[in-house]
Amino acid sequence: MRKFIIDTDTASDDCAALMMACMTKNIEIMGVTVVAGNVSVEQAGRNAKMTLEVCGSDVPVFLGAKQPLMHSRKETISVHGVDGMGDKGLIHPQGGFAPGDAVDYILNTVAEYPDEIEIVVLGPVTNIALAILRDRETMSRVKRIWSMGTPGFGPGNATPVSEFNVFIDAEAYKIMLDSGIPVSIAGFDLCVGDIEIDLDELAEIAASSPQGAFLKDATAVLLDFNRKTRGQDMIDLPDAVAMACAIWPETVTGRMNVYCYTCIDNGPCYGQVIFYREGSTYESMPEIPGYPDEVITSMDAGGFTKRFIGMFKKQ
Ligand code: RIB
Ligand code: CA
Repeated sequence: MRKFIIDTDTASDDCAALMMACMTKNIEIMGVTVVAGNVSVEQAGRNAKMTLEVCGSDVPVFLGAKQPLMHSRKETISVHGVDGMGDKGLIHPQGGFAPGDAVDYILNTVAEYPDEIEIVVLGPVTNIALAILRDRETMSRVKRIWSMGTPGFGPGNATPVSEFNVFIDAEAYKIMLDSGIPVSIAGFDLCVGDIEIDLDELAEIAASSPQGAFLKDATAVLLDFNRKTRGQDMIDLPDAVAMACAIWPETVTGRMNVYCYTCIDNGPCYGQVIFYREGSTYESMPEIPGYPDEVITSMDAGGFTKRFIGMFKKQ
């Protein structure tokens, strides 16, 4: 069994990713840690708890960072609704949060299972950075981090050069990428196009199971946002795509070893992540210790969608 910690700023696409992990037999979710991002950390906790309960999971949920490392929390354009989950009154979890804080939980779990824990981080990486700052030695025993973050090789969604999860806390992203822990990055460019879920696919998911119906409601505001801003009847699920990179490797069709430089200077480049590709020569590049990270460069969109829909049908 693979041992996962899932760190999330739980909105509707995070919910889809959590459901994927819950429904995957060879994944043991050790715990869910939450962070402020799409919504407040408390709302992210309630959304995560509710999602797990809909999937029949009693995995513990730990509250983490209320705000980024160096900034106060930005009020964000919530593409997922005020509650992050479609504003349909879905969120009424029975259970509470686990005692203790997310960062302690991450460190204690990695210390208990050295070289076994994979962390799937689906929001700003503030909790991960705090764990590294608090105990770099322990965090060096994390097997791998899977991050939904950066624009990949496409345009940003928070700014033209920065993706939301990095933009909210670029200092944290820099600490994570500079830590030497191997990171696999699923950028926003992977999550657009054929891999998006159209209305027919969404109807099939909703009709398949209570979990599918829950996800359809949770993505109602996201669908409306896409209709209004992009003129498209679809939902894009970046966190589900990132989770697929971790649990369905057969859907990954391209990857690249890179060294990543994270821009944290205030100004228009804040939150940009520059990829230096292994084997390429550049007129100028920073002193680099190696190429510990990888960027996923392409996915089998059809394979993803088939597995994603099929998963709900099996419930
Ligand atoms: O840019 C997309 C990412 O930002 C996703 O993780 C979404 O949930 C938000 O956190
Ligand atoms: Ca997220």
